[in-house]
Amino acid sequence: MSEPAPRIQIAPSLLSADFGRLDEEIAAVHQAGADWVHLDVMDGRFVPNLTFGPPVVKRLAKRAGLVYDAHLMVLEADGLLGDFAEAGCHRVSIHAEACPHLHRSIQAIHGHGMKAGVALNPATPLSAIEWVVEELELVLLMSVNPGFGGQSYIPQVTRKVAELRALIERRGLAVPIQVDGGINTATIAEVAAAGATVFVAGTAVFGRPDYRGAIAELRRLAEAAAPSRSASPAAGRAAATR
Ligand code: DX5
Ligand code: ZN
Repeated sequence: MSEPAPRIQIAPSLLSADFGRLDEEIAAVHQAGADWVHLDVMDGRFVPNLTFGPPVVKRLAKRAGLVYDAHLMVLEADGLLGDFAEAGCHRVSIHAEACPHLHRSIQAIHGHGMKAGVALNPATPLSAIEWVVEELELVLLMSVNPGFGGQSYIPQVTRKVAELRALIERRGLAVPIQVDGGINTATIAEVAAAGATVFVAGTAVFGRPDYRGAIAELRRLAEAAAPSRSASPAAGRAAATR
């Protein structure tokens, strides 16, 4: 017996939005059908770019029903977690490469009342999350080297998504896989077919004049490609999405 494919989440990345009109841009993608808004936080140290931090996130008008998903590309995430919680984030993802005490940092995210994700750079093996995956509400696989929007999807990541999906299912878990970087109408189907359900898209949404059309097309392609899952206790538990 199988059940329908899990719900696809489209998460436009603010990195490609107009930074002078963030509230309007967020309202526009939410009204256009976005499920999450992805907040790329960069410290100029872990990645060679700087964006924004908790004070800016705090100032954003929070829209009911929209999930605020922070992706921390920073060397010292622990000291910022309370600020992101206060700023209204529902979810925070931290990089395994930047967190020497990953388990402790995950606990700290939970302690601040947020859902925890761990992000892996393209070259980082899945073994980096092997001993913490049970604690997570998201695994974020980077499909570009983090730091900039508008880069090309790294094709090996498709096999990585499939291997992570197999690992998650072997353990009877329901943690969603998010993929970030180079997701567009040409790449989303293969990534969805491999088992990802949450898709970050910067250029492919904010770079298009019609946000609604862009989001609908990405969702349609992902839904059509997503495998249906065998009924299992894990599938029945249905991954929490906020
Ligand atoms: C890269 C960021 C991504 C980026 C995605 O460091 O984490 O979220 O904005 O942008 P696109 O979709 O343009 O590759
Ligand atoms: Zn990101």
